[in-house]
Amino acid sequence: MKRVRKAVIPAAGLGTRFLPATKAIPKEMLPIVDKPIIQYVVEEAVQSGLEDVCFVTSQGKSAIEDHFDYDYQFATVLAEQGKTELLQIVREISQMIVISSMRQKKPMGLGHAVLVTEPFVGDEPFGVFLGDDIIASKKPVMRQLLEIFLERQASVLAVLEVPGEAVSRYGVVSVEPTGDSQGRLFRITDLVEKPSPDQAPSNLAIIGRYLLTPRVFPALQNTPPGKGGEIQLTDGLRRLLTKEPVYAYRFEGTRYDAGNKLEYLKATVEFALQRDDVADAFRSYLQQLEL
Ligand code: G1P
Repeated sequence: MKRVRKAVIPAAGLGTRFLPATKAIPKEMLPIVDKPIIQYVVEEAVQSGLEDVCFVTSQGKSAIEDHFDYDYQFATVLAEQGKTELLQIVREISQMIVISSMRQKKPMGLGHAVLVTEPFVGDEPFGVFLGDDIIASKKPVMRQLLEIFLERQASVLAVLEVPGEAVSRYGVVSVEPTGDSQGRLFRITDLVEKPSPDQAPSNLAIIGRYLLTPRVFPALQNTPPGKGGEIQLTDGLRRLLTKEPVYAYRFEGTRYDAGNKLEYLKATVEFALQRDDVADAFRSYLQQLEL
């Protein structure tokens, strides 16, 4: 089996839930403390040992590519001003990983976004990272999935138990146990995209980290539009399941839905409380708020 080197990051969505902030700025560029959301995701890919990233973008998303590019003029100004620490920060971002991008020309769904990356991915297993999901964990979630992949040589999806009503916001899996010692790994028997709570096969929701075999591409090619008239990745994986096993892994870590305002605020507060430069002052500020 080939090594996992490539990461796909779909970033073509309109970001309407964060209007007006996202009218002229991609939602992926909104900061948590001082780092754009997309950088947290790319750092997770790097920390998981992946080497090549492909963003799936659409019109108005060029700020994402610019962010990971090397801005020669900006760097020269910082160097002239002797701001070496800042210079180091911008250098590190551009040297982080090899970046490329592909266009999704029509908003035809997440499955379609993954499908357009087939020329980039080729015949290799690869990771998919959804930028709305920010996950704080000791071991990066993609690395957790990679370890399962190495053992099982099959696709594996990150899943999380969610409360009853919430299932309708996610892809939901039905599973059977694999008997792993920690009770975190399951074999998927079915998947359904955004079921109503009474039709959900379980409360295990797919969270935006997938490690997939390239056999997902022919499966997606044959996947008709589903929920919302879009080609759903969940439906493509359901097809893949008829050809080969797919696993679900109840990952270790705390997940924030950065596509949701309240969760975005929580992530901002919690990430700030872990930052050496602002944590102490921020904690004192929060403590004196009369809530
Ligand atoms: C997408 C997927 C869904 C998954 C979710 C995770 O939905 O279609 O299966 O559970 O991401 O965040 P979206 O949130 O883009 O509607």
